[in-house]
Amino acid sequence: MSRLAVEISEAGYGPVTVLRDVELEVPEGGRLVILGANGAGKTSILRTISGLCRVSGSIRWGDAELVGAPPYRVAAAGIAHVPQGRGTFGDLTVRENLLVGGATRQRRTALADADRWLERFPRLGERASRAASGLSGGEQQLLAIARALMSAPRLLLLDEPSLGLAPKITVELFATLDELCAETGTAMLLVEQNAELALGIAEQAVILESGRITIRGPAAELRDNDDVRRAYLGV
Ligand SMILES: Nc1ncnc2c1ncn2[C@@H]1O[C@H](COP(=O)(O)OP(=O)(O)O)[C@@H](O)[C@H]1O
Ligand SMILES: [Mg+2]
Repeated sequence: MSRLAVEISEAGYGPVTVLRDVELEVPEGGRLVILGANGAGKTSILRTISGLCRVSGSIRWGDAELVGAPPYRVAAAGIAHVPQGRGTFGDLTVRENLLVGGATRQRRTALADADRWLERFPRLGERASRAASGLSGGEQQLLAIARALMSAPRLLLLDEPSLGLAPKITVELFATLDELCAETGTAMLLVEQNAELALGIAEQAVILESGRITIRGPAAELRDNDDVRRAYLGV
């Protein structure tokens, strides 16, 4: 079983507390989106799950407790993090970036999987031997997601994948993400400012304000909620 159950009492950086009483759950293969303004603490939630923040509370992943686990253990347990700003290695080739994502797997499996992704996404395939820095923003985001999937995770943590992308590219990227997660049964914990698109592919949603969850419910319900519409959908 790979269900994520987060019960953060407090989390932050050194003496700075950023999150308080944050409870959320991603069922196996499920999809949850976290919406919230800049500075609300969205990135910090993902960083806390990945073992990068000071935290008190509990983060259960199946039968395992992740609080206190170092980042490599969280990754090895099947949780892949696509950080805000993508974090691809510009100096490495597209193929090398994929292989970094598959570093924990057998070399032969990683090579075969990298080929599979390069075939699946011809835009990346055509550029397999070129430096990742030459890719467009949308291609880099796709590469970051494919790199995360190279570890065959059961849960993807995605931090604002639409950041800096043109609206048309974002729509395409979300369609791809939807398809990939459905195909592989990978669960998704998505942080986004593009509420319209995110609520479209998520099942459940929470709204984070100043480090606390203020609204939660099925994504379709939040889409119809007047407060949410005014604050996050611009209508
Ligand atoms: N390394 C850090 N040290 C101290 N405070 C931080 C650090 N990173 C982020 N913060 C603070 O935590 C709060 C939440 O930030 P963040 O999680 O990045 O929000 P969001 O992703 O929603 O924009 C902000 O007030 C930010 O200034
Ligand atoms: Mg952020």
